[in-house]
Amino acid sequence: MPRPHYIAAIDQGTTSSRCIVFDQAGNIVTVAQREHRQIFPKPGWVEHDAAEIWQAVQTVMAEATEGLDIAALGITNQRETTVLWDRETGRPVCPAIVWQDTRTDALTRTLAEHEGLFKERAGLPLTTYFSGPKIRWLLDAYELRERAERGEVLFGTMDSWLLWNLTGRHLTDVTNASRTMLMNIHTLSWDDDLLAALGVPRAMLPEIRPSAEVYGHTAAGVPVASALGDQQAALFGQTCFEPGETKSTYGSGSFLLMNTGQEPVVSRHGLLTTVGYQIGDGPATYALEGAIAVTGSLVQWLRDNLGLISSAAEIETLAKSVDDNGGCYFVPAFSGLFAPHWRSDARGVIAGLTGFVTKGHIARAVLEATAWQTREVVDAMNADSGLDLTTLRADGGMTADNLLMQTLADVLAVPVIRPMVAETTALGAAYAAGLATGYWPDLDSLRANWHKASEWRPEIDDQVRAREYRNWKKAVARTLDWVE
Ligand code: G3P
Repeated sequence: MPRPHYIAAIDQGTTSSRCIVFDQAGNIVTVAQREHRQIFPKPGWVEHDAAEIWQAVQTVMAEATEGLDIAALGITNQRETTVLWDRETGRPVCPAIVWQDTRTDALTRTLAEHEGLFKERAGLPLTTYFSGPKIRWLLDAYELRERAERGEVLFGTMDSWLLWNLTGRHLTDVTNASRTMLMNIHTLSWDDDLLAALGVPRAMLPEIRPSAEVYGHTAAGVPVASALGDQQAALFGQTCFEPGETKSTYGSGSFLLMNTGQEPVVSRHGLLTTVGYQIGDGPATYALEGAIAVTGSLVQWLRDNLGLISSAAEIETLAKSVDDNGGCYFVPAFSGLFAPHWRSDARGVIAGLTGFVTKGHIARAVLEATAWQTREVVDAMNADSGLDLTTLRADGGMTADNLLMQTLADVLAVPVIRPMVAETTALGAAYAAGLATGYWPDLDSLRANWHKASEWRPEIDDQVRAREYRNWKKAVARTLDWVE
């Protein structure tokens, strides 16, 4: 009998790096995880050390795959985070600027004349979120432009950084490239007008490749066969292969993506147009995305900055110690507000405080913040697509919180479903790598692996929902115009 063999996926996320090994049925076999430092040099700034992340990735790969026969390796990653490194030494030349960082706020405002160009060619609003302005800022601040023009300093998002270290090639995939503001989403290639608008030299950019193909091999000879931004990977892992199929992933931020088929759809309601995936030489599948910057990271903030809880899981217990939010609403606009507002000048508020409010009410307001932010992007998605969402497929670490799942169903007024494997991000990368190497034959074989684990149905009445939404919107209005 042949030895069983598996697919490994690296999930290089905002707060940690993981390696998860899957079997042919899409079940998790092993998991290894390492956190890395979140560096906050100033208010609104967030940095990572790319060398530390590469170390962590090597460690988790070794741990998770030890003694296993790995048929292929896939990569999925936090998107937009910007790494610059030296082609010769392979060392980062400056800190990596994380997607949540708002230091480019003033810079993006100087680019306002190009807003229409970015929207039409890149499918993206002009904000601090994407890589392009971060590259420009680093080139200026660290005086790297001339070296970048000579191709001595290279740019990559985390997928590129890992592919470079794993295979020695300077590549990125279409989904990650679609978050840079430099790729034309219609032609799937770097766009000279976008590069000129942002002042980014072409010589520093990686080659854009499909999301699933064999890019190269690891030192141990394992084919590296997929790369997808983590939210696109989750769309793939949730087997949202048909237009209209939608998922929402709850990690440090939350991201709702709807498959829109083979044509990019331009949003009129504050969503992003993004590439969903491209398998080998096949056509690209596009998606509309509602990106929310802060959900799970608000729970971490409560733990690390306020000490109100000692573990993230405790938020549910604390929130359950009270019956409702006690009139309190928490809008975590730590990185400004993302979809559908796109206001880099917003900052967080806790509204409705009275002497009655306890830490239990704040915990509840923290969980409700995730649900109301989801409601705002679902409203935008319904308006853009002309369809009403009928169920939400939710996944990611936060979906272990049953109170959050119930609150989501209450706030959205639709059933919320959690699949058996909630680690859909890594699963999506494994699926794509497995397709590229023949481990799985086709999309149908992946669909057959999807199983519902739990479902939550709405329980609150319409009047309560409407009142709470009005209060949430009042709290959101108080976050705006904070930064001058
Ligand atoms: O766009 C940012 C996103 O890719 C980060 O995802 O799961 O690390 O919060 P996550």
